[in-house]
Amino acid sequence: MRDRSSHRSAGRFVCSAAAVSWCVAFVIIDTVGCVSETPGVIDDPPSNDGDDGGSGGVGGLNDPLSMPASPTLSVESFNEASKCAGCHPNHYAQWKTSMHAYATIDPIWRTLVAVRQADFEGQRDQFCTQCHTAIGTRGGEVFPMFSFDDFSPISLEGVTCEACHKVAGIERVYNSGHVLDETGPIRGPIEDPVPNSFHESQFSPLHDTSEFCGACHDVIEQHGLLLERPFEEWAASPAAEGGRNCQSCHMPTYRGKAADLPDVPERDNIHIHRFVGVDLPMTDDFFADDATREEIRGEIVDLLRSAGRIELEATETIEAGGQIDLFVTLRNLIDAHNLPTGSTFNRQLWIAVTATDGEGKVLYQTGDLDDNGDLRDYWSELDQFGDSDLLSFTSGFLDERGNPTVFPWLAAEHVSNSLSPLFVRTNTLFIPTEEATVGPITIEARLRFRTFPPFLLRALGIGELVEKLEIYDIDEATLTVEVAPAA
Ligand code: HEC
Ligand code: HEC
Ligand code: HEC
Ligand code: HEC
Ligand code: HEC
Repeated sequence: MRDRSSHRSAGRFVCSAAAVSWCVAFVIIDTVGCVSETPGVIDDPPSNDGDDGGSGGVGGLNDPLSMPASPTLSVESFNEASKCAGCHPNHYAQWKTSMHAYATIDPIWRTLVAVRQADFEGQRDQFCTQCHTAIGTRGGEVFPMFSFDDFSPISLEGVTCEACHKVAGIERVYNSGHVLDETGPIRGPIEDPVPNSFHESQFSPLHDTSEFCGACHDVIEQHGLLLERPFEEWAASPAAEGGRNCQSCHMPTYRGKAADLPDVPERDNIHIHRFVGVDLPMTDDFFADDATREEIRGEIVDLLRSAGRIELEATETIEAGGQIDLFVTLRNLIDAHNLPTGSTFNRQLWIAVTATDGEGKVLYQTGDLDDNGDLRDYWSELDQFGDSDLLSFTSGFLDERGNPTVFPWLAAEHVSNSLSPLFVRTNTLFIPTEEATVGPITIEARLRFRTFPPFLLRALGIGELVEKLEIYDIDEATLTVEVAPAA
């Protein structure tokens, strides 16, 4: 196990001694321990210490690029997505279903922003808005104690068309590192765009790079703690080596027209703008109809099923009263980033294991839920630490005293159990049997995923969303062990 905490390190993503005991006691029994054995941990994150406004953190308080003290652009210079719909109906319809279009109406995001607003009395409000609405933040709509009611329509569109297509360059591959050119042309991947009456077009190789996505998707808190790092994970991955970027999976291509106009040619590489990940928006009126919702849900299921595999291994026969040593292996099938990635501290990825005898009696269980629907770990209100074998592969925050917290801005450590690209990890579970049990024992395992834990939504006062959470079963495995009478 490597402990990097002694390094000069603004962004920590490691196990300290306190963190190890937390991991072992509350999260997981894991032979590897809880260090993410990922290459590419930012020990020395690309820093902009010089302009951090005295906060001492990466990204800082008055970051002139993405969190300016006074507006650096005019919201009115930008076009709402509906203006693009006439000529780009497919792009518009797809984007409308994406998390990018949900980025500032997301009730979970809004609730967390409100908690942070209260905690810092409005002094750090721009941090959480700088990526979710770069245009609104740089345009002066996010001032101390701002209200969502005052957002203009384009800020309510979140990561809207022009938040991406007016990007002229990148200053850093994290924390809203894009340079926005408000009066410039529309930039995109077509080298020879057909001219049109609405906008000037300009070829931009940047849009076909992972850096373009990473400048929003890698998130570093103001005091330097690394929160999300899919780009950093990717940069050291086999996919990066093979020249495959984020777009290759999250923006699949088809042959078609970039604009629905008669003089525009068909092209081979038109990109689907649904940006499918793991999230299905939870507000009732987000999708135009149930059929669209089901279609997106299906794509999430497919993506998740491509993400991981589990395998079980044990000796075929044991003696009654003996113990089954069960090897449970999780394999990350993604060659581009960790499983899970992104906001791993919100996500739940775990392996549920049940052992039953020939009569169907449950002999052993881990990864099952309490009556609140929560895992029986530190956060369970009904059975805290009730599941000491829990195999969990997400991440969590510890505050300065080593206590778990759900709020990144209160965290001193970010402890991760996620798997690096193509990484395989085996854990051992010890399943006892009784003297009286003979015959076959069936062991069933499921790799399960959920975007948020119910306790968090209840704690935030948005418990009504709990019923919209779905648990996805990514993979299943079964094994039979024969219990022979004791000799
Ligand atoms: C550097 C850009 C950036 C900053 C700063 C940022 N976010 Fe995000 N946020 C993202 C990205 C990218 C995602 C999608 C990641 C994923 O789904 O794994 C996201 C996703 C989320 C989600 C999950 C939404 C859902 O419904 O699943 C929540 C909640 C959220 N952010 C809250 C916050 C809060 C609170 C802050 C401030 C403390 C914040 N974000 C700051 C970029 C950012
Ligand atoms: C999160 C950033 C993002 C948002 C939001 C976004 N796009 Fe794109 N768009 C891209 C990227 C990146 C590409 C090029 C992908 C590549 O070449 O790998 C692209 C490509 C395009 C193209 C060129 C044809 C194609 O499909 O490759 C058009 C046209 C386009 N987008 C229109 C739109 C419209 C209209 C909207 C809003 C309704 C929109 N985009 C929203 C990132 C975005
Ligand atoms: C009047 C019709 C029209 C409107 C309105 C329109 N576009 Fe376009 N757009 C086009 C045409 C035509 C092309 C060129 C398509 C081609 O050559 O295949 C294009 C190309 C693009 C490209 C690719 C540029 C490149 O060089 O890669 C992007 C990105 C794009 N549009 C985004 C937008 C966005 C965002 C909006 C709304 C703010 C918008 N468009 C509004 C007609 C339009
Ligand atoms: C080889 C295909 C592939 C590539 C390339 C890829 N991803 Fe993913 N991505 C996936 C799969 C599969 C999942 C679902 C499993 C997971 O969450 O890790 C996913 C999930 C995600 C999520 C949602 C994570 C969560 O739980 O909130 C985000 C955000 C994301 N990817 C961003 C990126 C970014 C940014 C890049 C480029 C740096 C990228 N992806 C490259 C396959 C890919
Ligand atoms: C301007 C900032 C920005 C850029 C650029 C951007 N994203 Fe995002 N992305 C976000 C935010 C913010 C969210 C989360 C919105 C929410 O859940 O509230 C998100 C969500 C996503 C998700 C959904 C994750 C989930 O939990 O399901 C995927 C997939 C994704 N982005 C892929 C990409 C890819 C691929 C690119 C590059 C082509 C890209 N993004 C560029 C800000 C950005």
